[in-house]
Amino acid sequence: MKMDNLRIGECEEGDMSELIEIARDSFPSPWSENLLRGEMTNPIARMLVGRVDRLPGKPVVGYVVYWQVADEMHLHNIAVRKDQRRNRVASLLLREAIRASQSEGARRVTLEVRRSNIAAQNLYGKFGFSVKGVRPRYYSDTGEDALIFWADLERIRPEGEHPSKSANKE
Ligand SMILES: CC(C)(COP(=O)(O)OP(=O)(O)OC[C@H]1O[C@@H](n2cnc3c(N)ncnc32)[C@H](O)[C@@H]1OP(=O)(O)O)[C@@H](O)C(=O)NCCC(=O)NCCS
Repeated sequence: MKMDNLRIGECEEGDMSELIEIARDSFPSPWSENLLRGEMTNPIARMLVGRVDRLPGKPVVGYVVYWQVADEMHLHNIAVRKDQRRNRVASLLLREAIRASQSEGARRVTLEVRRSNIAAQNLYGKFGFSVKGVRPRYYSDTGEDALIFWADLERIRPEGEHPSKSANKE
């Protein structure tokens, strides 16, 4: 595990400016500051951040936002700081989010991802997610389709550490 000094914890007010910077750097149409801040008080939203203390002044290296909806985990946003990618930060954030959501009763997890976002699809594929549907032209900024991924948490590969496998597309 490359990122063994990563600390994952709940998002705090002091993390927000770094988190917003990561979001702006990561998405063609990033969530607005208001939307991200709103998630901190949304009763069904959960926000985890990954911090590396040796990065002075800017310890936040990534974050994940999901909703706890009855027995489902809805993964809404995951992003890693550009200079910290391919160090397993997203894998460790996703693993921790799944563990926390399961402990609150989640049995399945779903998310939507741009058809062109191969990095994210590979990440989800490593955890055992598979494509179960398509929302045509879902993203209004580019007109791109969304792929709808689902995974059964009982069957998920909890570490995301199995040999790389492309997401199983139907
Ligand atoms: C997708 C993203 C979160 C991955 O973060 P990360 O910390 O670099 O991911 P990890 O290091 O944990 O990688 C886990 C696996 O994901 C896949 N992956 C990650 N980045 C990849 C890339 N650039 N190209 C292809 N596959 C990639 C690989 O299978 C990787 O396993 P490997 O390194 O053993 O090959 C990051 O690229 C990001 O923030 N992208 C912009 C935001 C985004 O697209 N979020 C997802 C929206 S649904």
